[in-house]
Amino acid sequence: MEKRTVVAITGDGIGPEVFQATKAVLEAAGANIEWVYRDAGLNALEKFNEVMPAETIDAIKEHHIAIKGPCTTPVGKGFSSVNVQLRKNLDLYAAVRPVRSLEGVPTRYENVDIVIIRENTEGLYAGIENEITDGVVTSLKVATRKGCKRINEWAFNYAKTRGRKKVTAFHKANIMKLTDGMFIDEATKAHQNGNADILHEQIIIDAACMKMVQDPTQFDVLVLENLYGDVISDLCAGLVGGLGVVPGANYGEENAIFEAVHGSAPDIAGQNLANPLALIMSSVMMLNFMGGDAIPVAEKIKAAYNKALVSGQKTRDLGGDLGTKEFTQAIISHIK
Ligand code: NAI
Repeated sequence: MEKRTVVAITGDGIGPEVFQATKAVLEAAGANIEWVYRDAGLNALEKFNEVMPAETIDAIKEHHIAIKGPCTTPVGKGFSSVNVQLRKNLDLYAAVRPVRSLEGVPTRYENVDIVIIRENTEGLYAGIENEITDGVVTSLKVATRKGCKRINEWAFNYAKTRGRKKVTAFHKANIMKLTDGMFIDEATKAHQNGNADILHEQIIIDAACMKMVQDPTQFDVLVLENLYGDVISDLCAGLVGGLGVVPGANYGEENAIFEAVHGSAPDIAGQNLANPLALIMSSVMMLNFMGGDAIPVAEKIKAAYNKALVSGQKTRDLGGDLGTKEFTQAIISHIK
């Protein structure tokens, strides 16, 4: 494989463990990657006294592709999310999270194959919060015509190029008539504008959640505003075995960051308990995005982790007994 340069942000908590595992699998499969290491999150705070150093953003702008471990965000106080800053700063407006049943990972449902497309830069994640008076606070939900349009067009374009049959928008436009109203208005337009061959549904999100847990196989591609996309991603992860098996990518017009859906999992960090598969799967998405001679490398890795799972080689979150390192070695042993 021709050499590609990738910015590596190993992240907090389990981040460094799952990154090391991913790097080892990529190397074993013959991925020719030159890593440019940059900091973000708690480790950056210690080194640079800020969680999102400019040199990290600059490196991504220069090399256009990054792989990232999870970064911790304090709850209720402290610094604002590194992830939100990165996504906004680089305008990575489309988060793509494929959620698929895996052979060897038995769950309540079979044949789940959903792709979540989450708007990544607007909504309540604008983080505009104010204390109006003592005991009264507000949070502003922001939707722009541009943001709603581009994410819905992106979702239909994704569905078209991947041969998917249906795009469903989840919303709450019965209550948030302007913001979610604009979102589904743009979904309707994106559907009518050259995508009439793809089925399109719009479902109020509470009813959609019920339908999702009754029968997730009725869904195909989902398009959601930021907060709904965040919540539904973890719900969907639970349908196929948990956060250890759901990869993700954040795309903008010029840059892409590949990262698992899960967080820094402080409860299991540093104990060789983390499942590295979600980040390994994210690296497969990255290789496919690079295209050309990186695609066979992606195929090799996919075949190897599928073989490990089918052979019962799994981490604890999937009902197995392997640690992070042992599971990584199991995948490597199946690389042909
Ligand atoms: P989390 O995803 O870190 O953990 C939720 C549960 O899933 C925990 O029980 C954890 O042990 C388990 N889990 C997660 N990933 C796993 C893996 N790979 N293998 C095995 N088990 C795994 O979510 P939580 O606890 O809500 O957030 C922890 C921190 O992560 C917070 O500071 C949060 O802000 C941050 N976070 C960062 C994200 C990112 O950087 N993209 C995404 C989500 C959360």
